[in-house]
Order: sequence, then structure tokens, then C-alpha cells
Amino acid sequence: MLAHDVLVIGAGLAGQRAALAAAEDGAAVGILSKVHPVRSHSNAAQGGINAALNPEDSWESHAYDTVKGSDYLGDQDAIEIMCREAPAEILALEHLGVTFHRNEQGRLGTRAFGGASAARTYYVADITGQAILHVLYEQLMKHSEVYRYEEWFTTSLVRDGDGHIVGCVARNIRDGAMELFAAKCVILACGGNGQIYNPTTNALICTGDGIAMAYRIGAPLMDMEMVQYHPTTLAGNGLLVTEGARGEGAHLYNAQGERFMEKYAPNKMELASRDVVSRAEQTEINEGRGFPDGTVALDITKVPRKRIHEALREIVNVGRDFAGVDITREPIHIKPGNHYTMGGVKTDVDGRTDIPGLYAAGEVACVSVHGGNRLGANSLLDTLVFGRRSGKHAAEHARNHKLPQVSNTVVDDEERGIREIVGRDSGNGRRVAQIREELGRVMDEHVAVFRDEDGLLKAGETVQRLKEEARNVTIDDKGTVFNQDLLGAIELGFMLDNAECVVVAALERKESRGAQFRTDYPERDDDDWLKHIDLSLDGDRPAVTYSEVTLTQWEPEERKY
Ligand code: FUM
Repeated sequence: MLAHDVLVIGAGLAGQRAALAAAEDGAAVGILSKVHPVRSHSNAAQGGINAALNPEDSWESHAYDTVKGSDYLGDQDAIEIMCREAPAEILALEHLGVTFHRNEQGRLGTRAFGGASAARTYYVADITGQAILHVLYEQLMKHSEVYRYEEWFTTSLVRDGDGHIVGCVARNIRDGAMELFAAKCVILACGGNGQIYNPTTNALICTGDGIAMAYRIGAPLMDMEMVQYHPTTLAGNGLLVTEGARGEGAHLYNAQGERFMEKYAPNKMELASRDVVSRAEQTEINEGRGFPDGTVALDITKVPRKRIHEALREIVNVGRDFAGVDITREPIHIKPGNHYTMGGVKTDVDGRTDIPGLYAAGEVACVSVHGGNRLGANSLLDTLVFGRRSGKHAAEHARNHKLPQVSNTVVDDEERGIREIVGRDSGNGRRVAQIREELGRVMDEHVAVFRDEDGLLKAGETVQRLKEEARNVTIDDKGTVFNQDLLGAIELGFMLDNAECVVVAALERKESRGAQFRTDYPERDDDDWLKHIDLSLDGDRPAVTYSEVTLTQWEPEERKY
């Protein structure tokens, strides 16, 4: 049995930041990741990270923008903490070696981002996540008290008889060995569930593992209906074209050459919040003013070419390699596409879940700072602020607790489950990829920018059928070395639990708020629905309860951009 004070599951920005904070506070840390840490999905974050660092800006302004962006569903105490702590986090990263863009005066430079009343997004060209991830990984390697388990796939969390978290079971992807990891506490930092949609901007690894594992051992999930569609993704493959392009001055046009955002958000135009821009695009497309390929156009040629090559160089490559378009010379066709999980495992502002000793941070968690709609460039900030806070709190927890005794029978149970999957006759059930494909298509059809009861019920029925089929899914690889087929079958179970929760919560919320736009309930209804939807596993289905939204200084008002 392997044992640590603090076990971190997931090694993207939230996980690495949590591990560093816990190690700096003296904890012996183990960090597990199903991919090499610098291949985590944080790598894909392009546009930047928000902070009110400029003396003319203020954390209150950042917080107000975030509250308004969330359509008043975000918890204002958590938002205040995130926005207050943002400037110090940027400076700390800078001092660690993140090469943030500098302006002509040699100072840290910013770009504009959606829903923000000041240009407060700090960035490294359009590879900000990658730049930060590599610097944190270097820092992690300096800490001998952090042990890295790279390419280990966590299959389940383990609780003791009193309900405390005591560790996890994980599989070494290289040789198939199953191990029990004991820990005084566990921090989940393994990202969101974008792969339950197809297409999505998310990496193939974003299968909602942490959300499902926490849910399965009784942790409540919150606001699972809030799924962000990013306004600028490539049709078909879902690749992200950063909001930074609009921040640098790119415009959106429909097929009639109209700059349609004038109708929907006359003040902020292309830099309204993401839910507003995505709905505007989808309305243009649905009402026949889009292009035949179901898109509208993003015209980045408005940005000077020199600036494109300096600040948006990665999407020059994306345009050329994945759409055959030179974005410096011609508009590129884009559409709203699945991008971000705003719900997740319910936590407090120190990352604590309802299960003693279990923490969550980053996209797997719902603190909630994003509420109904996340502002662009607040996600990297969320990972770092709440990753650090979780790591510190977990180190403290570890100081006050003994290492638990855990029985190895949990590994036997997991191994039995795996033998059952591997032993199935390959001829009988559907393949993982077939079920994944159908799931992604149905979610994108019925649980997307616009939703209604009929569509959600259809999605719910399909998810139930797919859950049945997944119980008998068959795999071809029966081996132990890098058996991705087997891991795919386990991930599929996680994905279906996530999808079920998204659909149940979307059906439950009978109003339109943020990313949840119900065409059958088109108004926001603060009287009945200014509340979080919490889901807990009851038998084999999610049971719904509600919790209050924390308001501090901003009363809900009509949202206009
Ligand atoms: O558009 C983007 O660069 C994405 C940023 C984000 O999701 O925060």
C-alpha cells in the first residue's frame, strides 16, 4: 500500500497548484494523473487569466463583472475571495517564471475579454495554460516531498466506516497493476466532463472521472445543468478559437454580412458574456442567416497582421491545419461548441466537500464562482486560487489526522470488476466508441445552447438506454499494458453518470439563466429559481435538493451588455 498525507488526483493547474501549496506547508504529497502532467487539459487554455492588477482597476469591479456574468447564480463570498486573491497569484506566477506578455513600456500587458469592464486578462500569446502548466511542473519537480504518479488511472475513491475519505484505488496504465493509495485526505483536481458532448473543445481525457467518483461515494454535485458553450469553435471538430481574437478586435458576421451582435449586445458587441454571444450566433444560424455549414464568420483580419502573429499565433496554426483558412487574410467559420463544466462537486471556499477529508478544486469542483456562466479567463484563476486554498487546507487537515488503516479488499473488488469487463465476449455488446459517439451527439442536440422539456426528456431516455448498454460494453484489448480500451470502458461509466446529472438538473431548472436557456421557460425567475440545484446519489439515480446562493453586496438585476 502506498501512503501520503495528501493525495492529489489530477495534475493540471488546480492539481499542481494544490500539490505545491500542500508541500510548502510540510505535507508529504502524492499526485496521480492519467496522463503526463504537462499533457493535462489546462494545456489547452489559450486566452489568459484575469486579475485586477492595474491601479485603475479594482477587485470589486472584477467581482461585480463575475457576479453579473454568472447571471447572479455565483456565490458572492467565493467570487470576492477569487477576485481579491487574483493579483497576488499573477505576481507569484510571474516570479516563478511565467513569461506573461509585456507591453511597450515593459510592464505586464493585458487584453480585453468578454463580460469584463476593464482589460484585465494577462496572457502568454494564446498558449497561457501551457505556459503556466510547464512552470508549475518545474516547481513540482523541485519538491522531493511531492511524489508523482504519472500515467496512473484512478478507478474509485475509498471511505472508511465513519464516512471519512481514506484514499483511492488506481491502475498503473503501463502494466495494469492495481494499487491502493492511503491518504489522510484527497484533493480531486481532475477536470470537467466536456467529452460527454460531441463536438467539444475538451481533450479526450475530460470524461468527468472526478465528478462521477465523488458522486458515487455520496458527495453532492451542484449546478450540473450549467454547461458552457464557447462562441468560437470550429464546426465538426470543436477546436477552440480563442476569445482573445475578439479581445484583439475580431468581429462576428452572419452570412448576409451583418455584424449581428449590434442587435443582441449593442454596448459590448462581440465581448458580451459567452452565453449571450453563443445564443446570438445560434439564433442567427437557426433563423437562416448562417452559412450552409451551420456557422457564422469570425473576421480576425480586423486585427493587424503583425499583432496576429505575435498574440494569436496558435490559432493561425489551428485555422490553417484544421480549417484550411489563413485567418490573417480571410474570415473563419465558427459556431458555439461545448467548452466548460460550470457545475461539479460542491465545495466551500477551501475546497472542502461534504465528505470529511475530500477536497475538490478546478473544473471538477463547483465553489461556485461561475454560477450560470463563466467569464472567459476566470477558469485559470479559479484553478490557481482554489487549488492553492485546497492544498493549504488539506495540509492542515493532514497535520491533525493519523494515516488511516485501509483494507486491501477494495482493490480486490476493483480487480474483480475489471476482470468482468475484460472477460466479456467481444461479439456481444456495443463498443465504447459507439456509445460515446451517440451520447455526445444526443447531448449536443438536446442539452446545448437552447433546451426544452421534450428534448431533455429524449436526452434523458437515451442516457438511460446507454447506461444499460454500457453495462455490457465489449472491448477488444484483453491485455495489461496501456490498455486504453479498458480505461475507455471505465471512463464511459463516469461519463454516463455525468450526463445523467446534467440532464436531470436541466429538466429541474424551469427558468432561463446563464447557459441554461429553456425555450419553454424563457425568463429568469429569481422568485423561484435563485438557488443552486444539488444532486446526490440515491439508489442508482440522482436525488434533487436545493441550496441558497450567497449574496454579499450585489442584488440581482437585469443583465444587459
Ligand atoms: O477563449 C479562450 O481563450 C478560452 C478561455 C477560457 O475558457 O477561459
